[in-house]
Amino acid sequence: MEIRTKWYDSLPSTNTFLRENFNHQPYPTDGTLIAARAQTAGRGRQNRTWMTLPDTNLCFSLYLQSNAGLMQIPSLTMAVSLAICDALIAEDIPAEPKWPNDVLVNGKKICGILSERIEPKDPTHSGVIIGIGLNVNMDTETAASIDRPATSMRIETGKTYDLTQTLESLFSPLSKWVDQWKQNGFEGFQETWTQRAGPIGKPLTVHDGNLLISGTLAGFGPHGELLLQTEHGPKTIWSGDVAF
Ligand code: BTN
Repeated sequence: MEIRTKWYDSLPSTNTFLRENFNHQPYPTDGTLIAARAQTAGRGRQNRTWMTLPDTNLCFSLYLQSNAGLMQIPSLTMAVSLAICDALIAEDIPAEPKWPNDVLVNGKKICGILSERIEPKDPTHSGVIIGIGLNVNMDTETAASIDRPATSMRIETGKTYDLTQTLESLFSPLSKWVDQWKQNGFEGFQETWTQRAGPIGKPLTVHDGNLLISGTLAGFGPHGELLLQTEHGPKTIWSGDVAF
């Protein structure tokens, strides 16, 4: 995949902006990447807001042209998590993927991914908008103000990063993992994912709305769904927040 980037000083949300670009021609093409130096209405999963201070972190959205159905989207997000992990590991930051859409460093969130399927009037432009928020230069005080444990590249290494260069360092792992997903779906990286997001047998609690289910990790199904062994038998989990 060839990635072409357009930077904006400020947008409400790069996901929303990219989606709105499909209301008129010319439509974005495969590999279009919209990055914003600030977001005023960043969105996270489950209608949460995603905080973005100006010129501090990376917030961007990548459009992937694809006929993949809704069932395939979770595994695309998981492939993207592995791409971000690889880019961070190359910077000596010990990143691990967390099902379904996070990247953690020592249990603290450094990156969140929001993938949204797009079905424009012209079906040849169907695809997925992959929104990525990566904490790059966020400081400890700001991280502490977030309601869940959070970290950034700067907090982990003590270095300050150039945002443009950091974004460009993600292109090669992103292309690699998205191509892997395009070719073989989740099956192509199921083993790698399970090794890196596991181990099997790890105790977990899943929150989904008002539902709370505890058990141990039994593995991941063919679409990347989480398989939980509970005291009432095996359960398949398609969405939710996992706590260890
Ligand atoms: C999550 O962890 O809940 C997902 C967060 C995704 C945030 C990114 S920032 C760039 C893109 N634009 C948005 O409005 N959200 C995503």
